[in-house]
Amino acid sequence: MDINSIQVQAESDLAKITSAQALEEARVKYLGRKGLIAELTSSIPGLAVEQRGIFGKQVNALKHKLLGLLAEKEKTLKTKSSVLKKNNLDIGMPGIAQELGHIHPITQIIDEICAIFNRLGFSVVQGPEVETEYNNFTGLNIPLEHPSRDAFDTFYLKDYAKLLLRSHTSPVQVRVMKTREPPLAMVVPGRVYRPDAVDASHLFMFHQIEGFLVDENIRFSDLKGILELFAQSVFGQDIRMRFRPHFFPFTEPSVEVDISCIICKGKGCSVCGAKGWLEILGAGMIHPNVFKQVGYGHKIYTGFAFGMGVERIAMLKYGINDIRLFFENDLRFLKQF
Ligand code: PHE
Repeated sequence: MDINSIQVQAESDLAKITSAQALEEARVKYLGRKGLIAELTSSIPGLAVEQRGIFGKQVNALKHKLLGLLAEKEKTLKTKSSVLKKNNLDIGMPGIAQELGHIHPITQIIDEICAIFNRLGFSVVQGPEVETEYNNFTGLNIPLEHPSRDAFDTFYLKDYAKLLLRSHTSPVQVRVMKTREPPLAMVVPGRVYRPDAVDASHLFMFHQIEGFLVDENIRFSDLKGILELFAQSVFGQDIRMRFRPHFFPFTEPSVEVDISCIICKGKGCSVCGAKGWLEILGAGMIHPNVFKQVGYGHKIYTGFAFGMGVERIAMLKYGINDIRLFFENDLRFLKQF
């Protein structure tokens, strides 16, 4: 190759270089021991004596030109990479993958239970967590002096004596019935608040799902059938139920509902306290006084209502022994669901 074409080629090679490695390769190609410049130099002894001096000078000039070009290129590459460094940008580094979260186990159970009742024709409604004293108590046949207020009576808003954090989801019964006429079939998931000291089975805040159905000729056997279907869908087909007499001011008759222990199948174990049964919810036929409060007094409606603690259902279903686990945000726990 002659001097001119080497220079042209070198300039076009250098223009394409973007890495230190390619720069080094170019240095070797042109200025290395066996490079093109060395090749030119080694051809000098074969030239006519009078040409050697001129040619030698031209080769030398080209060599210096190339050294200059290489140095310049090295400088631009360095400033480029230092700009990347200064901005803490390593464009060769793989990205950090964001871990994908999933739905909280309590929300999963709520969705699952609501879906079961959806299939049975219940629709899902919600009510506010800040509730009126009337909806939380009086409208549900819990008068001012009634002792059953004690367990619930709490968390009043400071400047609004008649507003409180609801202690159960039952006030949504009052809200719905005051604004709509039967037939009604609803489930109401949501947070509730109580003055309970925190331990493995109590929190000051937890979730409930209320359910109610109001129409003409609704009987206790309808309640039993619906709840049995619900329990079998959540806990399995071989689950048995029992209804124990209980008291709630807003239902009459009232019951507490147990399922046969899912661990020992009713034989008695540490989970069920050797009883063979686990309490899962409260229920009953809606009290005529509640119908009076909501303005159904003159009509012949009957209906049932039930209320369950979501955390309790989740704990029984998954064998969890401490309710606090749900709200500590410990991923080792949450990732299991
Ligand atoms: N509201 C009751 C409670 O929180 C549960 C319940 C709801 C009982 C509906 C009967 C009917 O304990």
